[in-house]
Amino acid sequence: MKNNEKTAGKKTVPLSSPFIEDDDIKAVIDVLKTRWLSLGPEIPEFERKFAEYIGTKYAVAVNSGTSALHLAVKALGIGPGDEVIVTPFSFVASANCVLFEGSTPVFVDVEPETFNIDPKKVEEKITRKTKAIIPVDVFGRPSDKEAISRIAKKHNLKVIEDSAEALGAAYKGKKVGNFSDCAIFAFYPNKQMTTGEGGILVTNNKKIYDLCVSLRNQGRGIGGEWHEYIRLGYNYRITDIQCALGISQLKKIKAILDKRGKVAAEYAKRLGKIKGIKVPFDSTKDLKVSWFVYVIQVDANNKELFMQELKKRGVECSAYFQPIHLMKFYKEKFGFKQGDFPVCESIAKTTIALPFYTSMRTEDIDYVCRQVAEVQDYLAKKKKN
Ligand SMILES: Cc1ncc(COP(=O)(O)O)c(C=O)c1O
Repeated sequence: MKNNEKTAGKKTVPLSSPFIEDDDIKAVIDVLKTRWLSLGPEIPEFERKFAEYIGTKYAVAVNSGTSALHLAVKALGIGPGDEVIVTPFSFVASANCVLFEGSTPVFVDVEPETFNIDPKKVEEKITRKTKAIIPVDVFGRPSDKEAISRIAKKHNLKVIEDSAEALGAAYKGKKVGNFSDCAIFAFYPNKQMTTGEGGILVTNNKKIYDLCVSLRNQGRGIGGEWHEYIRLGYNYRITDIQCALGISQLKKIKAILDKRGKVAAEYAKRLGKIKGIKVPFDSTKDLKVSWFVYVIQVDANNKELFMQELKKRGVECSAYFQPIHLMKFYKEKFGFKQGDFPVCESIAKTTIALPFYTSMRTEDIDYVCRQVAEVQDYLAKKKKN
C-alpha cells in the first residue's frame, strides 16, 4: 500500500499553513518579470514599510530570523568572554546566536504564566562579564519590557528583543521591537506573515543599521563598489522576490492578525470548557498578544500519549518547546541537566501546539476541539482504570 493510500479519505488538519492570496502571487510574479531578483528596489521598500509599521527608524531585511539574531549580537560587539542572558524556553536560535560569536549564553528561568524570561531572576545571573539580555516574546506574548529595560539600564547592558514570534504584539500600547537596542522578527511560513524564509532587524541606531547592512552583504562598505569589502561579512541577503511577498503580506497585516485573534478566541471558547485542558494566556490591558501558535497545556503524564492520539485522529500537533538547555548539544557543552530550570521544564512537559493558521475554518477548529475533548476523556478514563 502506498503512503497516500493509507491516509486517503482521512481528515487531517495541518499544524500551520501560510496565508497566500492572489495579490501575493501577483507581487512575486511581477518581480520575476524584472531583472532585479536580488539587490533591487523591493528590499529597501520592504524595509521602509516594515520600519514604519513597527515605529523604528531603520530595518535591515535578511534571509532568516536566525541571521538577524546573529547580526544583532555581532553589531552590539558581543564576543568571546562575554555572557548574554537568554531564556531556555524558546526556539534554539535564541541561544545559538550567542554561541555564533564565541560568547556564553546564561539561561534564566521563565514565568509560569507567560512562559517568558522571569525578570525577577535575571539580576542574580548578572556578572562582570554580562553584556546583554535577549528576551523572547514567546508565542507572541510580549516579555516584561519595563522590568527588563530597568535591569539593563541599571547594569549597563544591551537588549536584543527576539520578537520573531510576535509581529504586531504590543506592550502598554507600543509595538514590540521598540524596547531594545535592536529587535528581530522572522518570516518562516508558520509566522503571522511570511517571505518563505526571511527575517528582519529593526533599530533606531544608525551605527547598528549601517553595520548590519554591511555585514549581511559580505562586509561591503556602504555605497562602496561591488568588490570593496571593509570587514568580514556574510551572505545573509534576502531576495527581491521574497521582499515583494513581504510588502504584499505587510499590507494586510492588520486583517491577518485579526483573523488569527478570532481563531484563538474560538479555540479558547471551546477548549476552555474542557476539564484538564489549560488554554493559553490571552491579551490583558497592558499586553497585546499577536497569535503565533495555539499552545494548550495537558497533564504532564499524558502529553506524549495525547499527541499520539491527536495525530491518529488527523490533528497535527507539536511539542513546542523543548527546553534549550536540555538539548543534546547544550548538555554536552555546558553540563546542563534536568532540574536546572524547573519552571521551563515543567511547562515543556505539558505544552502541545495545536493546528493554528490565519485561514483556519470554523469546521476545522470544531474538528480539532472535538478531538481534543475526546482524547482528554479517553485518557482520563484510561487513568482511572
Ligand atoms: C523565537 C524565535 N527566534 C528565532 C527564530 C529564528 O527564525 P528563522 O527560523 O527565520 O531563522 C525563530 C523561528 O521560529 C523563533 O521562533
